[in-house]
Amino acid sequence: MPRPNSPGWLVVLEGIDGAGKSTVLRRIAEHCAARGIPCVTSGEPTRGQWGMKLRQSMSEGRLTLDEELALFLKDRAEHIATLIAPALAEGKVVLLDRYYISTAAYQGARGADPVWILSENEKFAPKPDLVLLLDFDPAGGLDRIRARGDSPNTFEELQSLREVRRIFLSLDRPFIRRVDAAHTSEEVWQQCRENFDSVVQ
Ligand code: TYD
Repeated sequence: MPRPNSPGWLVVLEGIDGAGKSTVLRRIAEHCAARGIPCVTSGEPTRGQWGMKLRQSMSEGRLTLDEELALFLKDRAEHIATLIAPALAEGKVVLLDRYYISTAAYQGARGADPVWILSENEKFAPKPDLVLLLDFDPAGGLDRIRARGDSPNTFEELQSLREVRRIFLSLDRPFIRRVDAAHTSEEVWQQCRENFDSVVQ
């Protein structure tokens, strides 16, 4: 197995909104603790200056595609410099809720070329050791978002989620493993754990 981030590991959870990423993130963090593997959790957009601008734009009016792309890249560069790269250098598992694969899928769904987005990001962003793509029918995803009391925002319209899902599934990278998130949370966890244990050892 290649170790692109040795001595650490970069593990990313991806998928459309409502696919259950935060539950899996928490369980992987617990799994690491039980195995004595140092682990930090984070996600994008961050809660830093650029990430907060992006979050604000989601609730208060959407930026243009170019503005949005530029902000995601700035947010990511800061995230890498301040958290991701140092933790990898310390030999930790860095566990992320979303990373540049989301940019390819979401900004791709707005009209940018997903292949170009991947290659632009890979010029500066460490490639993940593992991406768990929690794949789920968007109609069900929206039901889950509503069930937990959140209202779908402009990012979460059904039509665009279908397109986001289609792009996620089309991305061609050896580190992406698709997990069927339509199963029970226990079954989803089993699939994620098997993939995680095959990479982080
Ligand atoms: P989300 O994971 O819902 O954030 P949180 O749960 O912390 O509030 O992400 C917010 C939205 O940002 C989500 O709809 C996907 C979108 N997004 C992009 O459009 N491009 C990106 O590069 C990233 C990382 C997220």
